Amino acid sequence: MARSDLLLGIDVGTTGCKALLIDAEDGGPVADATREHPLDTPRPMWAEQDPERWWDGACAVVREVLARAGAEPRGVAAVGLTGQMHGLVLLDGAGAALRPAILWNDQRTAAQCAEITRRVGEARVLELTGNPVLTGFTAPKIAWVRQHEPAIYQRAAHVLLPKDFVRYRLTGQLAADVSDASGTSLFDVGRRRWSEDMLAALDLPRAWLPDVFESAEIAGRITGPAAERCGLLPGTPVVAGAGDQAAQAIGGGILREGDVAVTLGTSGVVFAACDSYRVEPRGRLHAFCHAAPGAWHLMGVMLSAGGSLRWFRDALGAEERARAAALQRDVYDVLLAPVVDVPAGCEGLLFLPYLTGERTPHADPAARGVFFGLTLRHGKGHLARAVLEGVAYGLRDGLELTRGLGIDARQIHLSGGGAASPLWRQILADVFDRPLALLEINQGAAYGAALLAGVGAGAFRDAADAAERCVRISQVVSPGANVAEYQRGYERFAALYPALAPHFARIETT
Ligand code: XUL
Repeated sequence: MARSDLLLGIDVGTTGCKALLIDAEDGGPVADATREHPLDTPRPMWAEQDPERWWDGACAVVREVLARAGAEPRGVAAVGLTGQMHGLVLLDGAGAALRPAILWNDQRTAAQCAEITRRVGEARVLELTGNPVLTGFTAPKIAWVRQHEPAIYQRAAHVLLPKDFVRYRLTGQLAADVSDASGTSLFDVGRRRWSEDMLAALDLPRAWLPDVFESAEIAGRITGPAAERCGLLPGTPVVAGAGDQAAQAIGGGILREGDVAVTLGTSGVVFAACDSYRVEPRGRLHAFCHAAPGAWHLMGVMLSAGGSLRWFRDALGAEERARAAALQRDVYDVLLAPVVDVPAGCEGLLFLPYLTGERTPHADPAARGVFFGLTLRHGKGHLARAVLEGVAYGLRDGLELTRGLGIDARQIHLSGGGAASPLWRQILADVFDRPLALLEINQGAAYGAALLAGVGAGAFRDAADAAERCVRISQVVSPGANVAEYQRGYERFAALYPALAPHFARIETT
């Protein structure tokens, strides 16, 4: 008999689209499917994607996941969307994308950020949106297009975030959710609505922006033409969903004040749930709406976390790549094998993981990666360990800021691809000096999106009920013998960025 108790999460990620079907009773994963899409870097530090590839990818993974599960389209009770945040999708009046989307990790807008901040005033921007204007955020990208591509700007009629473009194609509705809208520099995060003041200051028409919903609210239904493309039933409800970080947190049960999670993906994220709206006085943490009504979150985003290790693999790991291929082993296992023989603290070697500039706590697109303290003793194993430790120290920067605001977790949830490495997990537990909890279900943001769909469809009372019924911890990693060594290492790490900042700025301008 066909099942009718499935929930579908769709993640429009940076590297690809993912679809995940879960059981609405107990949240158990039923099937998933992923498909990569290309990322274009037309210039150094730029990052763009064609929104149509997201739509193609979303349709392909939905069809595939239904086939894998052997599910009838009518078995899907509701759909939840999530995706990479902050990206700018500009549409014309007929709903066609006017140019490639400019992504969250694109660093071209330093001048526009400075100009918006000057025009509105630094303190006033923080007051209106809870955050400084950052290069990755959406508003400065709109200002960039206005300045550099006036012919395109002239034709603009709608601004959407990445997952909301896919929603538009699925449902015909222009909509956003409060968590994703928080990262646009156009949203009044405290009041959970667009900031009329920011829109006026930037001379942006309110009509360009979609209506905003709470994450579990139904914001549209699958249209006939979309159903033909993706294989879902016309009329299937689609909830507003959430930005990838808020969705990930929903999927890990990070909901109440004191719940803290670290995600080690390409970027590295420290996510702290809050019961009230709170802003870091210097705006060094993002203050965003959470994907549950009446909840917010503070977030630190390091741009190159897992990305630093991938860079190390690609730039310095040719030999290990060849060996891994010959032995049919995972390349990271081979790359990290010599690291266990390197003492904690790498005999003085430090790595600053600012390979794509940095966002938290140093919002500085000019920051660069650094190996500091090299001697003749240091070999490749030291370099690899320094990368793992440097990323852990960078994440600790984010945790220190949340502690400064009174949020200190007794235990931290860890997820993301980097959590698969037992060595990295132990380094993180030692550097944070906190136990790390790993989750039974590691399906990322798509899982949270599916749970939100379940709330919208009435399968769960709310996000807390979904977490209660579906989220389980599989393992806890306790801090070990290296806590004191890493405390000293962290202090040395934290002193380096301030000393080097003027030199980074000089690289940028010469
Ligand atoms: C969050 C952020 C990234 C992107 C891409 O602020 O920039 O997590 O959403 O995943």
